[in-house]
Amino acid sequence: MEDARKAFGSMGNDIQDILIPAEALQKRIADLGRQISLDYLGLNPLVVGILKGVLFFMADLLRNITIPIEMDFIAVSSYSAEARDQGYVRLVKDLETPIHGRHVLFLEDVIDTGLTLNYILQNLRARQPASLEVCVLFNKPEHRLIDIPLKYKGFDLPDQFVVGYGLDYREKYRNLPFIGLLNAEVLKSNRGSK
Ligand code: PRP
Repeated sequence: MEDARKAFGSMGNDIQDILIPAEALQKRIADLGRQISLDYLGLNPLVVGILKGVLFFMADLLRNITIPIEMDFIAVSSYSAEARDQGYVRLVKDLETPIHGRHVLFLEDVIDTGLTLNYILQNLRARQPASLEVCVLFNKPEHRLIDIPLKYKGFDLPDQFVVGYGLDYREKYRNLPFIGLLNAEVLKSNRGSK
């Protein structure tokens, strides 16, 4: 575990603890892939990911799905922190694929308040897919404002600032292959790329 941090030099030094090692992530993702392959057999699902944090999860999950699938992406942006708190987000990249009558599996890296996911699901539901389910890798239940059924879930995360495997702090640390707890000093000193 110590070696996993060391391999990432200064980024590794900013990590206080590894909460979920890369191997545990890959094992759980393989399980999810197997289950999704069984559930969607013969349905040619469209797997939709939300940028950017979902990148690593989506790439690894799709390689563990053994049935034909198609993929697409959306991206959202908050108008402001206040607007986001009220559940408003702006779609900055829409799907390229029409989803009317399609089986859609929506992939999220992390769900916290649930506001983003709630907005997106409403938007997608209005397009009348044959089915719409959610697969989230990391669930942070402490600040949930809206209860959303999560058909597939990877891990529950504590209410702490974690990074890696797509999750960032000021756009940094996404490329760590594990989930790590960020040192309090890093948060305090506000070091980062933005
Ligand atoms: C993450 C995640 C969701 C949102 C979840 O995105 O992908 O979109 O936060 O939070 P919520 O449940 O409180 O709405 P983020 O804003 O970190 O963007 P990123 O994926 O580009 O890092």
